Amino acid sequence: MRLDVFTLFPEAFEWFRSQRHVANALGQGHELDCVNYRDTTPLSGGQVDDTPFGGGAGMVLRVDVVEAALRARYGCDPVELRARRRVVVLTPGGRLLDDALVDELAAEPALTLLCGRYEGFDERIVEHFASDAVSIGRYVLAGGELAAMVLADAVLRKLPGALGHAESAQEESFSAALEGAPEYPHYTRPAEWRGWGVPEVLLSGHHARVREWRLEQSRERGARERED
Ligand code: 6GU
Repeated sequence: MRLDVFTLFPEAFEWFRSQRHVANALGQGHELDCVNYRDTTPLSGGQVDDTPFGGGAGMVLRVDVVEAALRARYGCDPVELRARRRVVVLTPGGRLLDDALVDELAAEPALTLLCGRYEGFDERIVEHFASDAVSIGRYVLAGGELAAMVLADAVLRKLPGALGHAESAQEESFSAALEGAPEYPHYTRPAEWRGWGVPEVLLSGHHARVREWRLEQSRERGARERED
């Protein structure tokens, strides 16, 4: 996976890069590059955004600035780029990120994430340069960087070798293995703490019964979620 993140704040990704599963993925040959829109802006003084036509608060990332950054990186017209590479804009109005979309993106050989700032993107960026618009929830963040990290975290941990155990990402919350339900509860030592015990079946050593119990717990949690 070659993951490029376009942002005005590449330094915000330093911590992200140092997380173990990300470092593991990068050690396996996957790549994460941050590209600063400011490095290729055609405007003077490092300008990248502008006030919205029609008035209103905040600043909007300019379409000419994003075009220049994409052209410099990929050497082609961004309108053609999106036909051969997923180019994802992070925006609160986009498609809600879920496990199925994460799987879909994790199967791509390359991804481009575009972070907006302030009031977001000139709509022509979304319309003409992006293959996808993605949101991480029904609330507004001050910028796309945290959303890009959420998406990149979820995608990179799906790649083979990112997690300690190959099976760790198989049977987890919302996965097909659990029929889309949340994960079952986990317990570890001590087996008793302040009188709080651990379900007996987990201490029994009966793998088939443990498995049955876990699937049942997961299903119950899924049913409870649907009630809420
Ligand atoms: Cl992708 N961006 C911003 N700015 N806010 C968000 C979001 C994205 N997803 C939820 N809120």
